[in-house]
Amino acid sequence: MYGMIHKGVRQMVIDQLGGEAWQATERKLGIGPTELVTGMVYEDSLTIEIIAEAAARLNLDMEDCLVEFGRYWIKFAERGSFGSFMDFTGQDFPSFIANLDRMHLAVATAMPKAQVPSFSLIKNSPGRMEVEYRSDRAGLEKFVIGLFQGLLDRFQRQGTVNIIGVTNQATMFEILHDHKD
Ligand code: HEM
Repeated sequence: MYGMIHKGVRQMVIDQLGGEAWQATERKLGIGPTELVTGMVYEDSLTIEIIAEAAARLNLDMEDCLVEFGRYWIKFAERGSFGSFMDFTGQDFPSFIANLDRMHLAVATAMPKAQVPSFSLIKNSPGRMEVEYRSDRAGLEKFVIGLFQGLLDRFQRQGTVNIIGVTNQATMFEILHDHKD
């Protein structure tokens, strides 16, 4: 994945544990600035290794760390150079979800080697959404749960995210939230 993702993990570790902890993480993995270039693409296996080491530092299991990182990613992306992308994606929660593919398409024009996921808003009723997630990658469902939780925070909603269906091609999520609009 793009180095931008690695930078997000680094910032999460620094925010929670400080710079020393990140330096120790780099030493353990044998990585440095060369593995943290925003616009470079790295093997997914390296990205996963970095998240796994962050999990160990944060005393989380891998799955919980993916949730945590998903939630963190929303704040990280809001602060970064792509922050305005978040604003144009949608002013309300359902529109934002419905426009996620458009947003990643815009990201992919700046980062042409990105293998971006696809999201479809399948159902939207008061307090409940069904969202389908498709990806060429496996094993990122917990990351998606965290991302949706981060979006609940962004739109100032309380709620929960569940996986309600899995097929070879797609995973179906339900987002339950406290807005009845
Ligand atoms: C400005 C905000 C965002 C930016 C700049 C961004 C950018 C990216 C980039 C660069 C990747 C890695 C692709 C690669 O290197 O191959 C990625 C992956 C991903 N993004 Fe975003 N993203 C943003 C917001 C979101 C949001 C709001 C979601 C919410 C659901 C999301 C869901 C994902 C997922 C699940 C992946 C993992 C790839 C996969 O599933 O195959 N992203 N994104």
